[in-house]
Amino acid sequence: MDTHIAKSARITEFLKVASGLTSNQGSPRAKAIIHRLLSDLFTAIDDLDITPDEFWAGVSYINDLGGAGEAGLLAAGTGLEHFLDLRMDAADAAAGVEIGTSRTIEGPLYVAGAPLSEGRARLDDGSDKGKTLIMHGVVRDIGGKPVPGAIVDVWHANTKGMYSFFDKSQSQYNMRRRIQTDASGRYEFQSILPSGYGCPPDGPTQALLDAIGRHGQRPAHIHFFVSAPGHRQLTTQINIAGDKYLHDDFAFATRDDLIADAVEHNDPQAFQARGMTEPFVEIQFDFVITALAKHVVDEIVQRRRAEAA
Ligand SMILES: [Fe+2]
Repeated sequence: MDTHIAKSARITEFLKVASGLTSNQGSPRAKAIIHRLLSDLFTAIDDLDITPDEFWAGVSYINDLGGAGEAGLLAAGTGLEHFLDLRMDAADAAAGVEIGTSRTIEGPLYVAGAPLSEGRARLDDGSDKGKTLIMHGVVRDIGGKPVPGAIVDVWHANTKGMYSFFDKSQSQYNMRRRIQTDASGRYEFQSILPSGYGCPPDGPTQALLDAIGRHGQRPAHIHFFVSAPGHRQLTTQINIAGDKYLHDDFAFATRDDLIADAVEHNDPQAFQARGMTEPFVEIQFDFVITALAKHVVDEIVQRRRAEAA
């Protein structure tokens, strides 16, 4: 018995009805997307002979995913978010846009509206006894010129791999700040060195990864949006060299130019000379952003984001 029916005349007509293509209401774009996705799904059910049990397991999975608020996490873990980056890279290459610092995924844990500081900020509230981190650098344009007044919007996890707002045990905006670069384009912040982290072990994202034999771990990293008037907003992260998962990130965010060394300063003379009273690690990283032009569009991605009350 041939059960391949998705491409039959009857199902072809049925897919048009199911996707609203025969209705004069609704959005043509929504219809085109739904029609394509439904058609591909019908064909996959045929080709893979997906059983009703498997299908309903998938429906329950989607409910679990939404209930856990992990759809954004799964988008990162399945490489879809990275794929969107690669498509934007391809669009830049096709348009001849010279890009500076590589873009990489935002992830699902940004919170808008972090406090704004000029030049320098302290990100952590002092309650996490991780290694003190000093990170600094210059925001430059493609020509190498410093960009004063740029906003470096930074967020990272604590030593347990948890983010404030989502982890209610942390203070509001802990390890989240916006820093405006000074007249020389410089930014600097003090915080603690974050740890890598994994997906919630009992959550639906990890369950899917288990089913396909993958881990759900990320290397230690720090997230950034870098923006300035007349420039395209950069969405990126730095990944800290030496981490076990540096080149095995479940979210595929590591890119070669985004690997940063964390240099240890343990000698009292060295750290005291830097005005510090204890050992610290230092990361130096310059961001290169792209000026807006006719062929360079901004790419502030619209997505639902958290905002602290
Ligand atoms: Fe992260």
